[in-house]
Amino acid sequence: MDPVISVKGMCTGYAGQPVVHDLSFDVMPGEVLCLLGPNGAGKTTTMLALAGELPLIDGEVEFGGVKKNAPLYKRARNGMSYVTEERSVFKGMTLRDNLKIGDVSIDEAIALFPELGRRMNVRGGLLSGGEQQMLTLARALGRKPRLLLADELSLGLAPLVVDRLLQAVRRAADEQGTAVIMVEQHAHKALNYTDHAIVMRRGRVGLDLTGEDARTRIGEVEQAYLTASGGDVSAGEADLAARHAGSPGANHSAG
Ligand SMILES: Nc1ncnc2c1ncn2[C@@H]1O[C@H](COP(=O)(O)OP(=O)(O)OP(=O)(O)O)[C@@H](O)[C@H]1O
Ligand SMILES: [Mg+2]
Repeated sequence: MDPVISVKGMCTGYAGQPVVHDLSFDVMPGEVLCLLGPNGAGKTTTMLALAGELPLIDGEVEFGGVKKNAPLYKRARNGMSYVTEERSVFKGMTLRDNLKIGDVSIDEAIALFPELGRRMNVRGGLLSGGEQQMLTLARALGRKPRLLLADELSLGLAPLVVDRLLQAVRRAADEQGTAVIMVEQHAHKALNYTDHAIVMRRGRVGLDLTGEDARTRIGEVEQAYLTASGGDVSAGEADLAARHAGSPGANHSAG
């Protein structure tokens, strides 16, 4: 079986200045890779490069048999979906119409998230944050992507909702063979749904573990957040503490 995406020695950054160095991994169909690491470690930068939004400085990314760094709209046609914490919801339209213009059937959305069933006539803007993000994910998965890129999908949402979103991602991997690369702040939770974990520190691979190893070595994984802050260490610690407190308002600093 060929990997859905294969990354070899990737170096990427902004205006020719590298931020991510020598990153390599493959993601097979049905596999979930979780990127972890402190603020500024280079997780979003990695995702942007994989989506074709940032040019590579070195190395290569092969997706769908194509090595070139095609822009996102071309990759979308090619089976890549990219979701972030910014919910892509039309606020004035009902949930039903939001699904329709996303070309996702109501049945498909309800199969993923039964709780959306009784909210079909509610306008996007009146849905809760969790419901909006379920809609966003239903639309992304409804396109049956071969690769889902999810960057902090569950940022700021209640723990129960975080699990619902992560379960849906896991199911897409198990049942549709979707390859997944996700960035999650909730390391503890995310690792329950992960086959492969890479902890980044300062733009490089700090730890590269199977999901099982990452779950048993969770202490070490969390330590990496404290000892390898991308920037201000005290800010990193404060952020970690906020996340641990499970504060739904825990904000992430601008990258
Ligand atoms: N548009 C940009 N121009 C220049 N440098 C940037 C830009 N965006 C991010 N960076 C820098 O790249 C590095 C990695 O940032 P990135 O956003 O990838 O981190 P991250 O791991 O996603 O962090 P967070 O957990 O805060 O989301 C940081 O040093 C950041 O300052
Ligand atoms: Mg980020």
